[in-house]
Amino acid sequence: MKFGSAIVLLSVFIASIFLPVSANESVWDRETKPYWGNLNAVVYSSPSCSCCEGWSEHLRKHGFSVRNVKTADMKAIKQKYNLPSELASCHTAIINGYVIEGHVPADDIKRLLENKSDLVGISVPQMPVGTPGMESGNQKEPFTVVSFDKNGKFERFKEYSSY
Ligand code: CU
Ligand code: CU
Repeated sequence: MKFGSAIVLLSVFIASIFLPVSANESVWDRETKPYWGNLNAVVYSSPSCSCCEGWSEHLRKHGFSVRNVKTADMKAIKQKYNLPSELASCHTAIINGYVIEGHVPADDIKRLLENKSDLVGISVPQMPVGTPGMESGNQKEPFTVVSFDKNGKFERFKEYSSY
């Protein structure tokens, strides 16, 4: 082994000692994939929704700038953006033209944006316990991020069995 590469290996080893342990970080806390485009979110929610605030905080933490719009008629918002009723959750967000429904991890939103897909949006239906804004002790309810297209076709976008 050349002296140069030994030095590189040694510094990688030393650096790893000082880096924080990340193995146990959940999808909410760990670094999301970098995304260099716009991350502007408009989040519609009812005035009484507190878990929606928790989710908005999650987005901010991962680089989104969030504008919260409170409305008592969430049904009208979901209809306006053609959200399939099976996929409904509490809040509805519009990010770069995509519909993001419910407690979707920031990482999945960035993946959606990066792929410039022709999907209409993605959703975490209902409100699984353990998602951001829905924390409750150590409870982590498994959940699926579902994508939907303009024909109303659903597909599994990402599955979280443990996180
Ligand atoms: Cu909620
Ligand atoms: Cu919400």
